[in-house]
Amino acid sequence: MLPMRKLKIIIMQLKRICRRDFLFALIFVCGTSAVTAEITEARQAELLNLLRQDCGSCHGMTLKGGLGPALTPDALATKSGEMLVQTIIGGRPGTPMPPWAPFLSQEEAWWLVNILKEGTGVVAQP
Ligand code: HEC
Repeated sequence: MLPMRKLKIIIMQLKRICRRDFLFALIFVCGTSAVTAEITEARQAELLNLLRQDCGSCHGMTLKGGLGPALTPDALATKSGEMLVQTIIGGRPGTPMPPWAPFLSQEEAWWLVNILKEGTGVVAQP
């Protein structure tokens, strides 16, 4: 009887590990696809346009800084995504940085922050 019980315990533990990994995989897949699926290609083009025109008017055409600080990958490397998203959505009261909540969803702000951190938001100037 004893080895049988041991075997059952081992099987139960294996099942638990599998279930946990499966859940992690599920959360991961849903989490990433939810973010990208919501932003259509057309909307991405709009966001890039917004970044160049509106954000660029303060942060510089190439986002290297102007009235607002540089938003280059180097400048943002040590700053947390959460903080940057919060700044974009809520603005910085008492500074010229306005809140973009009326125009951008949380997901879109995250998309912009990723673009900024990767440095793919600005077409290289010749
Ligand atoms: C009217 C000018 C203005 C516009 C337009 C503007 N910003 Fe800003 N932004 C600022 C200023 C000024 C700061 C710095 C605030 C401070 O002193 O903390 C700032 C800060 C930021 C920060 C935080 C940077 C850091 O290093 O902490 C981010 C991210 C940012 N802006 C993104 C954007 C994005 C994205 C847009 C366009 C959707 C945008 N900004 C449009 C003026 C502007």
